[in-house]
Amino acid sequence: MGMGIALTTAAKAALPVMVFDKSSTQIDRGLKLVDSLLAKDVSKGKIAEDEGRMAKARIRVISSMDDLKDCDLVVEAVAENLQVKQAIFSSLSQICSPSAILATNTSSISITKIASSASKPEMVVGLHFFNPVPVMKLVEVIAGLQTSRATLQRARSFAEACGKEVVQSADVPGFISNALLMPFLNEAIMCLEKGVATKEDIDKTLRLGMAHPMGPLQLADFIGLDTCLAIQQTLHRETGDDKYRPSVLLGRMVDAGWLGRKSAKGFYEY
Ligand code: CAA
Repeated sequence: MGMGIALTTAAKAALPVMVFDKSSTQIDRGLKLVDSLLAKDVSKGKIAEDEGRMAKARIRVISSMDDLKDCDLVVEAVAENLQVKQAIFSSLSQICSPSAILATNTSSISITKIASSASKPEMVVGLHFFNPVPVMKLVEVIAGLQTSRATLQRARSFAEACGKEVVQSADVPGFISNALLMPFLNEAIMCLEKGVATKEDIDKTLRLGMAHPMGPLQLADFIGLDTCLAIQQTLHRETGDDKYRPSVLLGRMVDAGWLGRKSAKGFYEY
């Protein structure tokens, strides 16, 4: 998602972007995706060739987080792990200017908790993009308890400059999107677990009966089953509400290393 956010920022908001990842493999994969998406947009006549070249040229890969020192806004998009995110926000507080906005793309972790590890928590905000970032039209903006109005407004303006529609959520478990999506995905997995129907028929019902672009099991594979499990565990732990309890099957699939598209096997094979 990080590279999708970088591409959208470079292509739609026409802003220079620096990208950092510990894994050079991830960077290489992301850059290949950027090249192929820009080439497709050029070949379809959606953008001119030099616009594509300029968008790519705005993306600079950096080898150290220290290079982020002059950024106006940083978007963290690492895995859903509070300790890792807090360590990053603590480092960013040392590196970045006090006026920089520090945003997180978290899909379920409390913005208030993440902000508590930053030296200026009022500059921390949730900017939750959706996958695939260049295609999905929404960004959910989330204010933690400490987030200032000015930070919230700047975060909104950034998302709008990226061509996105914005919704604003309070810092509740799962925000708007995953508080609604995760019980739905989990119900679909439990339907399969109980033998109510085949995976194909569960997905077909939602695709053809309710005009969803993907069925729920396809969507869970697309998001990543480990990500779905991590989100559901956070929601269940934080609310104590059984409607968020992850199904046994989802846990077992993650134990097996079947994580969906990213591991070439989930409910389906890829
Ligand atoms: N990155 C960028 N663009 C992509 C892409 C990717 N990974 N995959 C597909 N696209 C683009 C294609 O290039 C194509 O663009 P053009 O119209 O400009 O050619 C467009 O999307 C449609 O692609 P396809 O025709 O190949 O396939 P499709 O019509 O089946 O659409 C889809 C693919 C957009 C992914 C569609 O199936 C869809 O909308 N699925 C639902 C996605 C969704 O719900 N995402 C949210 C997940 S939840 C989340 O992200 C947040 C969370 O917290 C869990």
